[in-house]
Amino acid sequence: MKALLEILQPGEPDWDLAQAIDPDRLPAHIAIIMDGNGRWANRRSMPRVAGHRAGIGPVRATVETCARLGIEALTLYAFSIENWKRPRQEVDTLWRLLRHYLGKEMSSLMRNGIRLTAIGRLDSLPPDVRRDLDRAVRQTEANSGLRVNLAINYGGRAELVDALNAVLEEARLEGRLSTLQIDEEAVEAHLYTAGQPHPDLLIRTSGEMRISNFLLWQIAYSELYVTDVFWPDFSRSDLLRAICEYQKRDRRFGGLSPRGHGRSSRQPVAEEIGVPAR
Ligand code: IPE
Ligand code: IPE
Ligand code: MG
Repeated sequence: MKALLEILQPGEPDWDLAQAIDPDRLPAHIAIIMDGNGRWANRRSMPRVAGHRAGIGPVRATVETCARLGIEALTLYAFSIENWKRPRQEVDTLWRLLRHYLGKEMSSLMRNGIRLTAIGRLDSLPPDVRRDLDRAVRQTEANSGLRVNLAINYGGRAELVDALNAVLEEARLEGRLSTLQIDEEAVEAHLYTAGQPHPDLLIRTSGEMRISNFLLWQIAYSELYVTDVFWPDFSRSDLLRAICEYQKRDRRFGGLSPRGHGRSSRQPVAEEIGVPAR
């Protein structure tokens, strides 16, 4: 958080937003569905791929801001399994842009201690993309700052299928397949994001009110924040606003409010809800 305030000037809009954020209640993990590149370009009578190109700046800015805030993990949805349905030329451009980003960003990722991981069905990526991605992941492996998960050829259902198959395979190798009972811990331990906190805040740009097969397991109790801003226009202010809004939410996880709103601030005694005392 301090690292963010260092680069802001009193009086600028982001200064006030940053001041409004409680550094002790930051989301540990932010996940973002970066949507609206195509519509951003359409509005400007440009080809869709121009929108994808314009989407790189916000990726850079978001990664930097999360690192400066001291966020633990950031997951960016860059390419879904379903995105293969798009025209070949668009898909090829997305791979080119990804490789360009990885090449250009490496020194800044290293400088900022950022650890990159890729999540998704990486075996089906074009070999050159896979190679560059593996290299970037290896190079940043020992960094201990912000963890950036790039979701590439990612699908939430595929992740669950892969996790379940991994649980089965492990049990088979250990000779305990016949008595195997799958529980939540076992699934959890084999997710692509195993060991990381679940997203506290899920942001979607471009106004679409859907999940589009993203992190289905991990977002069970994430706070959702949808903004109409198209991804290429998503600025540091938009991110800070999302975090401010997140901090106003009352997260109950199915229980009662820890902050205490009226009656929910304490457990009602049995007589008050008409349950006879035992
Ligand atoms: C998000 O923008 C980027 C990817 C899915 C790769 P879109 O390309 O989906 O843009 P819209 O939703 O068509 O505007
Ligand atoms: C979700 O956006 C995938 C990414 C942002 C990478 P889409 O544009 O593919 O999702 P739908 O088709 O609107 O649900
Ligand atoms: Mg879209």
